[in-house]
Amino acid sequence: MDKEKIVAQADLARIEAIIAEYQNQRWALLPLLERIQQEFGFIPPGSIDLIAKSVGLFPVQVQGVITFYAGLYTTPRGKNIVRVCRGTACHVRGGKTILKLVKRHLDIEEGETTPDFEYSLETVACIGVCALAPNIVINTNTYSQMNPKKVALLFGRKDKV
Ligand code: FES
Repeated sequence: MDKEKIVAQADLARIEAIIAEYQNQRWALLPLLERIQQEFGFIPPGSIDLIAKSVGLFPVQVQGVITFYAGLYTTPRGKNIVRVCRGTACHVRGGKTILKLVKRHLDIEEGETTPDFEYSLETVACIGVCALAPNIVINTNTYSQMNPKKVALLFGRKDKV
């Protein structure tokens, strides 16, 4: 059973309780979506109708807001979010190779999540520490001056991050 179905079955009551806190507050759509995502790691698609009804919008309008905001997701994400920098400084210092190696270690492409929901892989334009390029961010930790050996140390054993 995939994570979404587990969430849908086990936590529907929890979703309804959160929604109840924001009942009839159209202005609160974004905080409500963020709260649900914070709780589950994503916004279960099965909750969109309930959310829309509670704030007096159509489901398509709620879906539109989710699509608009890059930080909102309707698919389960990994416990660890890996962001490989694709900015210019990182690129010229081997960022492309680093991304390729991370993909190989995790066996996923950009935008995907490992089947065990341990990792999701994304790329970012620049994380602001160009002098230490190439860089990777895992959750809130930055790993700088990456090279193939460091990538292997980070991802060779998934339980070591
Ligand atoms: S380009 Fe990678 S940190 Fe700026």
